[in-house]
Amino acid sequence: MNTTMSKLSIAVRKPVIKLVSKPTPVTYIGPGKAEETGRLLKMLGARKALVITDGFLHQSGLLNGLLDSIRRAEVEYTVFDGVQSDPTFAIVASAKQACTGCDTVVAVGGGSVMDTAKSVAAAVANHTEAEALAGMFKVHRHMLPLIAVPTTAGTGSETTVAAIISDTATHSKKQILDPKLVPMFAILDPELTVGLPKTTTAYTALDALTHALEAYVAGYADEETDRQARIAVRLIFQYLPKVWENPANLEGREALLTASFFAGMAFTRTYVGYVHAFAHTIGGKFGVPHGLANAVLLPHVMRYYLPVCGKRFAQLAKMLNLGTPGDSDQVRATRFVKLLYQLNRQMEIPKRFEKFPASAIEEVIDMAFQECHGVYPVPRYFTREHARKLMEAVCAKEDA
Ligand SMILES: NC(=O)c1ccc[n+]([C@@H]2O[C@H](COP(=O)([O-])OP(=O)(O)OC[C@H]3O[C@@H](n4cnc5c(N)ncnc54)[C@H](O)[C@@H]3O)[C@@H](O)[C@H]2O)c1
Ligand SMILES: [Fe+2]
Repeated sequence: MNTTMSKLSIAVRKPVIKLVSKPTPVTYIGPGKAEETGRLLKMLGARKALVITDGFLHQSGLLNGLLDSIRRAEVEYTVFDGVQSDPTFAIVASAKQACTGCDTVVAVGGGSVMDTAKSVAAAVANHTEAEALAGMFKVHRHMLPLIAVPTTAGTGSETTVAAIISDTATHSKKQILDPKLVPMFAILDPELTVGLPKTTTAYTALDALTHALEAYVAGYADEETDRQARIAVRLIFQYLPKVWENPANLEGREALLTASFFAGMAFTRTYVGYVHAFAHTIGGKFGVPHGLANAVLLPHVMRYYLPVCGKRFAQLAKMLNLGTPGDSDQVRATRFVKLLYQLNRQMEIPKRFEKFPASAIEEVIDMAFQECHGVYPVPRYFTREHARKLMEAVCAKEDA
């Protein structure tokens, strides 16, 4: 799709997208809140719940308090712990098998677990397989009641309309997008994220920062999404360095979960942009974790937006007290983008994707443009030449 057609498609979709109402989960925040799960299941009248997680989290004992609360509430449950990062439709199908006889779902894990749970809960309620739900507005019946308990602070999946599942045949990521995918409850319990390794903490927080910034510059942004995005940006800059220094900082962990939630609220209404389009493609093809893929690309794409987003970035710079009062918007905006590069250095984010060979650049651009153009309301379109320059800056270095 060429740029003119893309802009036209975005303009035509905008009023329709704005009309779609997107629910917000009933949300609990605070240390120990994961143990509300049993009470909530009881309140829902659940007979049997499927608890979806991954093998590492299950074996680590992280779920013990939550599972105890379900037992105390005398609700029957079974655990499916076969989720892997960047889940495939085959994993969703196995989890769906495990859901037989269950009437509610609890997701305890990162985005991979929550997306699996959303796909299962929707597929079961719609008497179909998850593949059939890929695309927009294909979930006709409400999914099974879902309680989402994130153990990473990044994807915001506990409040978004999306589930992202990998298609092994095409090595690409498919999206199920529907307001019926918003979980009924979200529980943001920082005690569950204190054990998150430093690298995963940084990758996932930078995923949330990407959600907030792509939402802030999007053509679908409005006052509410701006406010949500600003909250997320402020919390991440304030607390990510503190949590990086002291991973056990519970206040910081709670702030990052809150930031991720607000960023999710924002981008689920505005969509994302080029950072995610390239990150989904590179992540899907070369097995790069989602947050890391976004982190590497984020400063570059925001720098490309500078000529058209000066005012927006200047507002963020002002909020973060960057520069001096007399600075022009352009100076402030440049400072903000520099801060993104600085944060990446501080979080030890690599500059390049070592598994992404230069020979794949054209294919990556084709796939990313296909995902983005006409769907994501980006503020500035990449020409092929500029996209090539961006990919050359982040792909593996050719051997000399
Ligand atoms: N649905 C959405 O709106 C949305 C948005 C962005 C990304 N995503 C998707 O989410 C997935 C990525 O999710 P993610 O970044 O949360 O990573 P993840 O869920 O894949 O988890 C990454 C790793 O962290 C481990 N982990 C999780 N919590 C932990 C904890 N508390 N302590 C120690 N280890 C822990 C997991 O076991 C796993 O090995 C991708 O598939 C991405 O496409 C979805
Ligand atoms: Fe993301």
